[in-house]
Amino acid sequence: MARNRRVLLLPGDGIGPEVVGQARRVLEGLGTGFEIEEGQVGGASIDAHGTPLTDATLARAKAADAVLLGAVGGPKWDKLDFANKPERGLLRLRKELDLFANLRPAICFAALVEASTLKPEVVGGLDIMIVRELTGGVYFGQPRGIETLANGERRGVNTQVYTTSEIRRVAAVAFELARKRGRKVCSADKANVMESGVLWREEVQKLHDETYGDVELGHMYADNCAMQLVRDPKQFDVIVTDNLFGDILSDEAGMLTGSLGMLPSASLGAADASGFRRALYEPVHGSAPDIAGREIANPIAAILSLAMMLRYSLDMAAAADHLESAVRRVLDGGARTADIMGPGKVQVSTARMGDLVMGELTKQAA
Ligand code: IPM
Ligand code: MG
Repeated sequence: MARNRRVLLLPGDGIGPEVVGQARRVLEGLGTGFEIEEGQVGGASIDAHGTPLTDATLARAKAADAVLLGAVGGPKWDKLDFANKPERGLLRLRKELDLFANLRPAICFAALVEASTLKPEVVGGLDIMIVRELTGGVYFGQPRGIETLANGERRGVNTQVYTTSEIRRVAAVAFELARKRGRKVCSADKANVMESGVLWREEVQKLHDETYGDVELGHMYADNCAMQLVRDPKQFDVIVTDNLFGDILSDEAGMLTGSLGMLPSASLGAADASGFRRALYEPVHGSAPDIAGREIANPIAAILSLAMMLRYSLDMAAAADHLESAVRRVLDGGARTADIMGPGKVQVSTARMGDLVMGELTKQAA
């Protein structure tokens, strides 16, 4: 008999517990083949253990088949030392699990075309994938810190740094994904001002010429890419970019879909000999402390993150398809959480949205 798959849930802070709670119900509804565990991360872990990620939780994440994280951070912990902030818990997880490839799909559901601030003809049918490098660049580069100079001025330093192998492994993920989609990759960098950007561009091009000649490759400066994303987002298929530009461009792409509340993500490590990849799934939206605890948050990003987990970690592509079409039908039916509410639609709570998705899944199964 196949062993149960171990899924670790780390709800975290703000709306994290509310949205992960709905994803958990959906996962439980999928059957008994899972061992579902829960742990703490971010501010929740700081309050309980004095650190945003304990070694024990890290060990459980390493042992799990997949991790689903809600969100971290909030005003309560804003004044903490940089090294002890909730965000450090997430960054440490990414780094220690070596989750170098962050997949952030931006899909505009037909039912939500009106929810975007952009014109329907610009975003209708949009389906792009941002592949963000996640364990390198300025997020982790040394030296870093704040120092006081002899003249009393203070100086803040961060380092943007990439090596050949870091660039090639994330670019390979982007090319492989493109082969299963529209066979087009756009690489975004700032090769016009940064040496690390020159290297990025050269290495992506080299890898393309060696191995991925069947995929169309273009390069864009990251600022132009930001502009093109709102001007004509449908020109893109897969965008590959570094950690910082990817952070920014993926938030921007999120708004094209109507709401950040719709956006799932997957962070993947390298495949081992058996094909297993460490992976962490999380909604892109963050902890949204202003609406936390009010049961109005949109659980769809967390539920779609679960769908990505089924597809990329648990070898359950058919279940992932079912879940995604269940979400689509719920939206077609007119139910909306506050963030995607529109005229003539029915506003529902976080839990009610979960109920509706579960209801559609059961209908499909029947
Ligand atoms: C994201 C977030 C994180 C990041 C924060 C919470 C550390 O903005 O996942 O995009 O900057 O990577
Ligand atoms: Mg971000």
